[in-house]
Amino acid sequence: MTEATTTARHSLWSEAIPHGRFPVLNGETAVDVAVVGGGIAGITTALLLKRAGLRVVVVEADRVGSGVSGNNTAKVTALQSTVYSTIERKHGAEAAADYANGNTAAVERVASLVSELGLDCDLRRLPAYTFAFDEQDLPTIEDEAKAAVKAGLPVSRDRGELMGVPFPVAGAVRLDDQLAIHPVKYVRGLAEVVDGDGSRVYEASRVLRIEDGTPTRVHTDRGTVVAERVVIATHYPILDRGLYFARLEPMRSYCVAVRLASGTPPTGLAISAGSPTWSLARSGDLLIVAGQGHPTGESPGEPYDELTKFAAEHWDVAEVTHRWSAQDPTSYDNLPMIGPYTPGSSTLYGATGFMKWGLSNGTMAAELLTDLVVGRENPLADRFSPHRLSLGSAPKLAKLNAKVAVDLVGDRLKSAEVDSVADVPVGEARVVRDGSGKAGVYRDETGGVHGVSLRCTHLGCLVRFNSAERSWDCPCHGSRFDVDGAVLEGPATKPLPRRDPA
Ligand SMILES: Cc1cc2nc3c(=O)[nH]c(=O)nc-3n(C[C@H](O)[C@H](O)[C@H](O)COP(=O)(O)OP(=O)(O)OC[C@H]3O[C@@H](n4cnc5c(N)ncnc54)[C@H](O)[C@@H]3O)c2cc1C
Ligand code: FES
Repeated sequence: MTEATTTARHSLWSEAIPHGRFPVLNGETAVDVAVVGGGIAGITTALLLKRAGLRVVVVEADRVGSGVSGNNTAKVTALQSTVYSTIERKHGAEAAADYANGNTAAVERVASLVSELGLDCDLRRLPAYTFAFDEQDLPTIEDEAKAAVKAGLPVSRDRGELMGVPFPVAGAVRLDDQLAIHPVKYVRGLAEVVDGDGSRVYEASRVLRIEDGTPTRVHTDRGTVVAERVVIATHYPILDRGLYFARLEPMRSYCVAVRLASGTPPTGLAISAGSPTWSLARSGDLLIVAGQGHPTGESPGEPYDELTKFAAEHWDVAEVTHRWSAQDPTSYDNLPMIGPYTPGSSTLYGATGFMKWGLSNGTMAAELLTDLVVGRENPLADRFSPHRLSLGSAPKLAKLNAKVAVDLVGDRLKSAEVDSVADVPVGEARVVRDGSGKAGVYRDETGGVHGVSLRCTHLGCLVRFNSAERSWDCPCHGSRFDVDGAVLEGPATKPLPRRDPA
């Protein structure tokens, strides 16, 4: 077995992202709505707002589709692991039904946009499965099937016959007619339709500051968008208001794509119940295996090795062709947060908390945000309001906040410290004691030293090294930085200062 490519940051779909297709924002431009973030949530919202007759600008820090929307397992499905039993337990059957309605409509919205706009994004209709490896997880499957039926989904029970996997399955819940897509081609296809007729898409333009007001002003380092309304679709919210930081936990997961020497990848969209989670899909003739999730900032172990080992245990693997990882925030009460950014705001809106199911949730968010911006009633507005009160989830909220409080004053897990840069091994990182302070130092394969401050530029927690990604990750709200301090993902908008310890 060989390992052909790979940078851990890029999925097999990222290869479809061209450089320089959309311009950098320069100077000042005025529109009805500014959308910050060019992932599925932002771009779909921009498209629906444009269709509602508004002039829209999308401002994307990197390239459209380069965020989590281009680094996932590409399943667009209303059956999502054990989400219905979880929501029913926490919020009741009506909430689970609302979630099912919103996600079912989103799956069909994706399919209809693909067909109306003639998008070339490899869309396929496939059954989705949540399955149990063994008897032990069968009660979980049973609960999920019951909750999904109660929520109105036409699921059935079987033993995963249509999943097309080479191992025995004890039982499964199945939902037919879900979708697999090329997520980058999909999102970029929508962006092409957004751009034009007074609306614009900008890339390589990181929003640094938003001045709320009438109108609101959205600033990058080179330009400003003046807009009546602003939608913040940056995945993790970048604005330090609305108490999102206290209610979201970013969870990171890892993926590999492998080419098989013989046999075939799964024919269904599959995810296991129980722990650990294994998510299985295919893209062309490649098998995709995903899992090894952990809260961002915690040590990942050897996630790519574990995923490759799992693939090789069950399939005849010829080579690993790609590996990538990404993270998605989960809210303390397991529902997405979509609506006014602060309570009652009619100028700022946001969408987050998609729990690793944002291809459908992000599309649902776009429908809901569009209705809110144009003043249409939407039956899901209260359910997914970011400012709902979920008393039943108060203990989880308290736990999240306790963790952040500890990470703000110190390093909960105590990273390995050394006294001198000379003690940092090649290909590894250490915390180097540097006079009265500390620096994070990475030594590259050529011996070059990369030193950064360990204080996250968002709200000041201590970052930790992620050896699987060669990045400095913040355990508080999930900001990530490369070894030279550049922001890989927010909510931070400023780089870690460089440090050159002796
Ligand atoms: C491993 C993994 C597998 C997954 N698999 C699936 C799946 O199979 N099915 C599914 O439905 N969901 C899946 N998800 C989740 C799904 O991919 C995400 O929920 C969804 O893509 C989020 O979309 P988004 O638009 O909110 O975020 P993103 O796609 O991340 O878009 C946000 C954009 O905002 C930009 N941005 C950030 N800060 C700024 C700033 N300051 N200024 C300007 N722009 C900024 C970013 O560059 C980014 O492009 C998975 C998630 C993970 C982690
Ligand atoms: S302190 Fe918030 S992401 Fe680091």
